[in-house]
Amino acid sequence: MAIIIKSKKQIDGIKISSKLAAATLDYISKYVEAGVSTEFLDDLIHDFISENGGIPAPLGYRGFPKSSCISLNNVICHGIPSKETILKDGDILNIDVTTIVDGYYGDTSRMFTIGEVSAQAKKLIQVTKECLDLGIEQVQPKKRFGNIGFVIGKHAKANGFSVVYQFCGHGVGLQFHEDPQVNHISPKKSGARMKPGMIFTIEPMINVGKAEATIDKKDGWTARTVDNQLSAQFEHTVLVTNSGVEVLTESGEN
Ligand code: MF3
Ligand code: CO
Ligand code: CO
Repeated sequence: MAIIIKSKKQIDGIKISSKLAAATLDYISKYVEAGVSTEFLDDLIHDFISENGGIPAPLGYRGFPKSSCISLNNVICHGIPSKETILKDGDILNIDVTTIVDGYYGDTSRMFTIGEVSAQAKKLIQVTKECLDLGIEQVQPKKRFGNIGFVIGKHAKANGFSVVYQFCGHGVGLQFHEDPQVNHISPKKSGARMKPGMIFTIEPMINVGKAEATIDKKDGWTARTVDNQLSAQFEHTVLVTNSGVEVLTESGEN
C-alpha cells in the first residue's frame, strides 16, 4: 500500500486530534501517583477524550479492551489497564493515547515515574526521549525513512541499550495504522523517501537488556521484555512539511 499524502483539510483535522491526544497526556499527568490503579487512569483518559469531542482509538481496536495502553517497567507496549495493577514507588510507565476526532487520528505517548526511580531507569528514560528527538530531526522531504532508525539505533547502542524491532512507528491520520512501517533500527538511507504531507509516528521502544519482546499468551496484547528488564518509550505524530517537520502532538509539557 502506498503512503498517503494528506490534503490540507486532512492535515487540519489530524492536527486537532493530535492536540487532543497531547492534552490528554497533560491532563492525566496530575493523577499518576503511587496507589492508583492503571484502570483508574484509563477511566479518566476515556472520559477526558469523550468530553472533548473525541473517541479513544484503542477501545475495541482488534479487540483491545481499554481506552489507552499503560505499560509498566518490563512491559514494552500494549499494557492493558487493570484494577489489579497499582502504581508503586520506583515504577516507570508509559501511557499511550490515540484519539479520533472527526474521523482523524492522533497518537502519542510519554513516560512517567513514581517517586524515586533507579539511576538506570532515569538514564533509560532520558536516552529514549533523546532517541525520539534524534529520529524527529531526520524528518525532511526527500530523506529516507531508514535514517530515522539509523540514528535511533546508534544512540541507543552508544548508551548500552537495545532497540525493540518487533514493533514499529506507522503512518497515521485517516486510520490508526497506515503505511509505512517506521523502523526504529534500520540501515542509513534505506526505505522510502519522505514527502510533504506524509504523517506518521516515531515511537522508539528502548530496552536495558535484550531487544526481544514476548506477547502475553493469556491476554494476547501485553508485550514484555524477554529478560524482564526495563523498557521505555516515547511517541510523537509528525508531519513532513515543505521545509522539514512539524510535531503535531507537542504540548506545553513535552
Ligand atoms: N498506540 C499504539 C501505537 O502507538 C497502538 C495501540 S493498539 C491498541 O501504535 F490496540 F493496543 F490500542
Ligand atoms: Co503509534
Ligand atoms: Co501510540
